[in-house]
Amino acid sequence: MGNVYQKGFGKAKKSKNDEFYTQMIDIEKELVYYKEHFCGKVVLCNCDDPFESNFFKYFATNFNFLKLRRLVATGYAGSGFGYGQIGDIFGLRPEIGEDASKGRRGFKIVVNEVNGVNGVKGVNEVNGVNGFRGVNVSGLEGLVKNKNNELALLGGNGDFRSAECLELLKEADLVVTNPPFSLFREFIAKLLDYEKKFLVIGNVNAVGYKEIFPLIMKDKIWLGQSIHGGDREFRVPATYPLEAANFRVDGDGNRYIRVKGVRWFTNLDVPVRHDRLILSKRYRAKESVRYDNYDAIEVGLVSDIPYDYDGLMCVPITFLDKYNPDQFRILGITDRQNSSGLRTKKYSIKDSDKYSDMNGRGVIKTESGYETKYARLIIKRRD
Ligand SMILES: C[S@@+](CC[C@H](N)C(=O)[O-])C[C@H]1O[C@@H](n2cnc3c(N)ncnc32)[C@H](O)[C@@H]1O
Repeated sequence: MGNVYQKGFGKAKKSKNDEFYTQMIDIEKELVYYKEHFCGKVVLCNCDDPFESNFFKYFATNFNFLKLRRLVATGYAGSGFGYGQIGDIFGLRPEIGEDASKGRRGFKIVVNEVNGVNGVKGVNEVNGVNGFRGVNVSGLEGLVKNKNNELALLGGNGDFRSAECLELLKEADLVVTNPPFSLFREFIAKLLDYEKKFLVIGNVNAVGYKEIFPLIMKDKIWLGQSIHGGDREFRVPATYPLEAANFRVDGDGNRYIRVKGVRWFTNLDVPVRHDRLILSKRYRAKESVRYDNYDAIEVGLVSDIPYDYDGLMCVPITFLDKYNPDQFRILGITDRQNSSGLRTKKYSIKDSDKYSDMNGRGVIKTESGYETKYARLIIKRRD
């Protein structure tokens, strides 16, 4: 995913710096597809300091519109913004035991009711605040003062894997968040263990993870609708080091980073996912390039997929942005483990080293030798 990715989520994964805050516009653009999935449901945002998170803010402001039954958000102890707020304003004591160095506690907010436009406090104020600085505390105060809602410390640090957070997960119908990228595999695994519906932000590279790809292949999870390329901006804490081109500081001193390869991952089905991909290219045997180690043709661009070819085709991972499961089957990925079982050839170690990992990738014969390709999905038409 190039340099920007390395400096974005890649860097987050490496350094465990997981403090990237999703912008409201990106949440709104995706959530617009799923309204009917939320009616009467319990939504959990389990990596979301409610003072900071636009996910919480989105669901709080749209609580009545979406007809939610309940909204729960848990703030992780490591997340900065909420601490001052819960301590100073709500009088909650975030440290575990007497010795603060032993660690801080996470906290949760449980919203069962949001007063509407004419309510005393709540949705209006939440709506009116510039979300980049977090939810205005008076907005939250309004929600919390409602005796049907609750703001409380957790027993532990709010790790989504902790017993008390898993209890909240058990009670939820849907999880919507941007989880820490460094824990993406574990996060998805937990959601599936608990058989939850979800809509979460990740990086397209996660498609190739050995824990994630089989789920994509079996059509248990897929990519969302609103992001198909380019990069997205995330707010980062004031302490985040400023570097080169992909950083920006706004007039209020807020820092942002641009990240490539961002995608939504979900198991919520929507009609648009079943729209046919319109193809206009015919298969021409003479012009098509065949793989040397897969019985498949190379199709470098999704728009070049021939509409009349019945065999295996190797396409870029970004095919998933257009993937209609009624039109195509995904049979595997060209990976080192040969997990698809479709690889037809193994090369000598000498050759493999010479041409950069031939046994780990799809290989094409050229006039001068071989060319290895980036990971490709192996697909086939259904009809
Ligand atoms: C990528 S940020 C996204 C925050 C928020 N969901 C958003 O989209 O604006 C991930 C958040 O997860 C929190 N976090 C890190 N490790 C966690 C864990 N083990 N359990 C729960 N939350 C965690 C971080 O503090 C951070 O606020």
